Amino acid sequence: MARILGIESTCDETAAAVVADGRTVLSNIVASQAHLHAKYRGVVPEIASRAHIENILPVLRESLEAAKTTLDQIDAISVAHRPGLIGSLLIGVTAAKTLAWSMGKPLIGVDHVHAHLYSIMLAENFPSPSFPAVGLVISGGHTALYEMNSLIDVHLIGSTIDDAVGEAYDKVSAILGLGYPGGPIIDKLAASGDPESIRFPRTLLGRDSLDFSFSGLKTAVLYHVRGVPSKGQQIKQITRTLNQQELANISASFQAACIDVITTKLKRASKRVKAKSILIGGGVSANRGLRQALSRFSTPVFFPPLPYCTDNAAMSAALAHLFYEPKDFSPLSLDAIPQSQFQR
Ligand code: KG4
Ligand code: ZN
Repeated sequence: MARILGIESTCDETAAAVVADGRTVLSNIVASQAHLHAKYRGVVPEIASRAHIENILPVLRESLEAAKTTLDQIDAISVAHRPGLIGSLLIGVTAAKTLAWSMGKPLIGVDHVHAHLYSIMLAENFPSPSFPAVGLVISGGHTALYEMNSLIDVHLIGSTIDDAVGEAYDKVSAILGLGYPGGPIIDKLAASGDPESIRFPRTLLGRDSLDFSFSGLKTAVLYHVRGVPSKGQQIKQITRTLNQQELANISASFQAACIDVITTKLKRASKRVKAKSILIGGGVSANRGLRQALSRFSTPVFFPPLPYCTDNAAMSAALAHLFYEPKDFSPLSLDAIPQSQFQR
């Protein structure tokens, strides 16, 4: 039973996990830095890389202890070495290379976005999606569609031209004076709001486009809350506090616009690749409204279990197993790379 130790440090979570045979999660430790970035309402790269340095060793130790595994019993070290913030990536990559070299274990570098797509495989019922499939990664840093001919053969077919959808959630939460990260807060508020109370724009970018744009939607929420600025004037600050029902209605209407755009693009992409299934990953895949809307799809839709939606190391340790079996290892010169391996 091969045990892979996974390391994740692409953005603002320091994480380590031990996964056996690509399926069984023996431990999954995530040190969130959300409290450090909350007052800036977004991730500050310098703060993130410093926090990774402080967190990486305790998180690694904890993941081994929780898995009741010693370093000797680990068969390979995997690390998400792309895409992400360079300063953050460097900490995880350096830790992984050091462990691999000093313990004489194979090193397996994986793409973080690929790991998000693979995270559906961590469900307990051992899912077996049919291919070709459409992959969708929706998170704070990524919003992209993929054609998947297998779990390894992945091609980018569309991506956001401005904000990621999770970023739009975080910014709308900031506009409403709510906390960070915004996704879970807006998701919860949306449940008690009327999604038809405000008609926010759905940006589809042309009839056949598989790309996304969320910055117009975010601005529409801003103007709804603070008023449209007239020429030469600054946007007003909120002059009164929004009551709970107003917050819920704005959240529900914003979420409805996001869901409409995502479902429209998924239908287009499914038609284009003749998809037999749809695989979704990334923080926004935890969204309850989206999960409910997609439960009505005729094509089977696979979601990750909730603990594996947001950034974690179990998803990359699981994915690394696919490379472990054929001994497709990375050299110790493995680089941290800001871009994904999937480019158009
Ligand atoms: O995958 P992730 O941890 O990090 C990136 O790779 O970017 O995703 C974090 C994002 C944040 O923008 C957060 O607001 C969003 O996922 N998010 C959600 C929900 N839970 C987290 N968005 C909508 N609904 C949720 N329930
Ligand atoms: Zn992510």
